[in-house]
Amino acid sequence: TYLGVDIGTSAIKAVIVNETQAVLAEAHMPLDISRRQESWSEQDPEAWWVAVQGVAAELRSQVPEVWSQIEGIGLSGQMHGAVLLDSQDRPLRPAILWNDGRSFREAEQLGAKYPHLSEALGVIPMPGFTAPKLLWLARHERQIFEAVRTVLLPKDYIRLKLSGDRITDMSDAAGTWWLDEAARDWSDEALSVTGLDRRQMPLLVEGSQPSGTLRSDFAKAWGLRSNVVVAGGAGDAAAGAVGLGAIQEGSAFISLGTSGQFFTTTETFRPAPEALIHAFCHAVPQRWFQMAAMLNGASCLAWLSGLLKTEIDVLLREAEAHYQGPAQTLFLPYLTGERTPHNDPHARGVFFNLSPETTPSDLTLAVLEGVAFSFADAKDCLVQAGAHLTEVGIIGGGSRSIFWTKILSNILDLPLLRFRGGDKGPAFGAARLAILATAQASPDIICGAPPVLDRIEPDPNLVERYRPRIEAFRRLYGSLKPEFS
Ligand code: XUL
Repeated sequence: TYLGVDIGTSAIKAVIVNETQAVLAEAHMPLDISRRQESWSEQDPEAWWVAVQGVAAELRSQVPEVWSQIEGIGLSGQMHGAVLLDSQDRPLRPAILWNDGRSFREAEQLGAKYPHLSEALGVIPMPGFTAPKLLWLARHERQIFEAVRTVLLPKDYIRLKLSGDRITDMSDAAGTWWLDEAARDWSDEALSVTGLDRRQMPLLVEGSQPSGTLRSDFAKAWGLRSNVVVAGGAGDAAAGAVGLGAIQEGSAFISLGTSGQFFTTTETFRPAPEALIHAFCHAVPQRWFQMAAMLNGASCLAWLSGLLKTEIDVLLREAEAHYQGPAQTLFLPYLTGERTPHNDPHARGVFFNLSPETTPSDLTLAVLEGVAFSFADAKDCLVQAGAHLTEVGIIGGGSRSIFWTKILSNILDLPLLRFRGGDKGPAFGAARLAILATAQASPDIICGAPPVLDRIEPDPNLVERYRPRIEAFRRLYGSLKPEFS
């Protein structure tokens, strides 16, 4: 029996699976984001830990027998966040998250001063990554910077609590802008240009390797066995891939969660920094991936739902009932700036072409399409980076809507596969990594594709009607770019 826990941005999510990977129980607990200043995005690491314990208590009471049989734990987590610890392993300040834009100047300067590093580190420096955040800290919160003994990624703070180890895995380290992706080791040069060295970094293991075992006091308090293995785990993008079995060359999928990712696995390290692609280490040895990463995914629909005070399901139902093809209104989904394809932390959301006739369902449709258009941009970047896309999986909360999935398929002109249990995403991938690390099993055997729920084919008529809309979407951002600052 194995436990997978995803330290997400909007919630902690956990699943328990058995040896045959059947899901026996699941639980989740919501999290808040604090935005103390424009473009800041922070969470308190202690809030993750409290929520993880809440989820553990919930699972234990749901399935007490199963709970006590857990042999391995896998962790997945939101990537790129900076958890800054003092010499007693206490957080020095709230964690600075992946969608925090404050370090845009530092990112720009790192890129301009050290252009040769981007290829080795898999991507150009962008403000969400960990390295530019530390440069920001050195300039703006000097005392804290000087007290930093260890920099951890979000899920690795939970590992520290669970096993006492300062360890990360390759796929999460990959997103720091400090990892030499081909060597699968920290880059001393990248660390030194942000005023750090490897003594402040966690040790590195592969995601499918053990990183340690659960502390015995926790094991006792939580009614668990004494020798529970903690796996390396993964950043949520790679954990999602492991959950889908996307570990072979060319296997591709879209994740439509809070953020959006278009991901394809590679058997060699294939950087394409000029295309704003993230070329990162995968969660299994000798694999890498290429990813277009968008900051605004299903979060845009959640935002609209809050604004219109209408449940997401109702919004989706009404938009579908009124659907007659592409919307008149365009939506730029860049509520928190954008990474691929713009690297523009200043971009913001826009509704364009409103009229007295515009209805709430027009706005919903515009939001669904706007997010989908951003995936069309992502597809172009991946193709520029050498990816061949023929059919693509889709996971994440947004994929629960077949209507949204159809819109994506028509805008991307690609068949999309939905999977049974696809909405469990990274937590399920983390559970698979727990199996790999505990049972020393082969990834090829454990990481098959889950059963296909349905296959959405593009409708040629709608593909044609969407083509000019994709161009209009691109022109709209192009014209407004100078206005964002
Ligand atoms: C990937 C990325 C997000 C976060 C949060 O580059 O920034 O997917 O991992 O989910």
